[in-house]
Amino acid sequence: MRWGWLVASVLTVGCGGATSAEDFGEELFQDSRLSESQFNSFSCATCHASTAKPEEGHVRAGYSLYNSAFRPSWWGGYETNLLNAVNFCYVNFMRGVSPLTAEDPKSRALYEYLVHISPDSQAPALPLTVVKDIQDVPRGSSSRGAEVYSAACQTCHGEPHTGKGRLTQLASILPEVTDEYDSLFPGVPHQLVVIEKVRHGQFFGVSGSMPLYSREALSDEDLGALLAFLGL
Ligand code: HEC
Ligand code: HEC
Repeated sequence: MRWGWLVASVLTVGCGGATSAEDFGEELFQDSRLSESQFNSFSCATCHASTAKPEEGHVRAGYSLYNSAFRPSWWGGYETNLLNAVNFCYVNFMRGVSPLTAEDPKSRALYEYLVHISPDSQAPALPLTVVKDIQDVPRGSSSRGAEVYSAACQTCHGEPHTGKGRLTQLASILPEVTDEYDSLFPGVPHQLVVIEKVRHGQFFGVSGSMPLYSREALSDEDLGALLAFLGL
């Protein structure tokens, strides 16, 4: 069992009586309080859909977790243990203080939920192309860029220029955050800092919790349109 333990049918008792483990897991999937960090505002559902079909109007950094439980590997082949694949997100993006353990009732319920939304036990692994070398991309149409912003960035960053409606005060206001770049990153063109952030997420610079966008999640073409929209 790739999660790390044998799965028995788990029953957890909620306030209203017995809830099935998969229902509890679904609630946890959508609840940022899964991570005990006061700085976390993300739930699994912030970055992952759980549907078979692509969602209208959303571009998420992570894949849909529909049929994810039995993939032979995750994270483009880097992870061969599902719990580790989840913990990568939990620790790096949700600021989970210590990784979820296999025995933790919450992690067991989450697993039951992932199994529940994974009817295909032969589902293949999915590709993940992380852009290593940061290069400028051709600018696209600004109107397409507006669509990309609203589908990919707005949930966390709120409206452009004001940040209105943003998920967390920690999310920078776009594109105004780049006003500080001349002193923070002297000599580096602003758009390259933004491209690096989008392509590498928190792995850029010192810290942060923003996810990375692979080429599968966001094409260079859509990134170019986004930069045009942001005036970068
Ligand atoms: C801030 C965004 C973010 C959050 C929050 C997040 N993830 Fe992820 N996750 C990603 C990204 C980006 C990837 C890499 C692309 C991919 O493989 O889906 C990823 C990868 C994964 C994978 C591997 C999928 C595969 O087939 O490669 C699993 C499984 C996963 N996440 C589960 C979870 C679970 C469960 C939670 C909640 C505990 C969670 N993630 C929270 C962004 C996030
Ligand atoms: C899951 C939430 C989330 C999504 C989606 C997201 N961001 Fe972010 N982003 C953040 C958070 C939180 C920060 C501040 C902390 C950090 O740097 O990671 C941030 C910071 C940034 C920064 C500032 C980096 C710096 O330190 O100067 C840029 C630029 C940025 N995001 C661009 C984007 C763009 C463009 C998109 C859409 C393609 C996007 N983000 C989508 C959460 C998100």
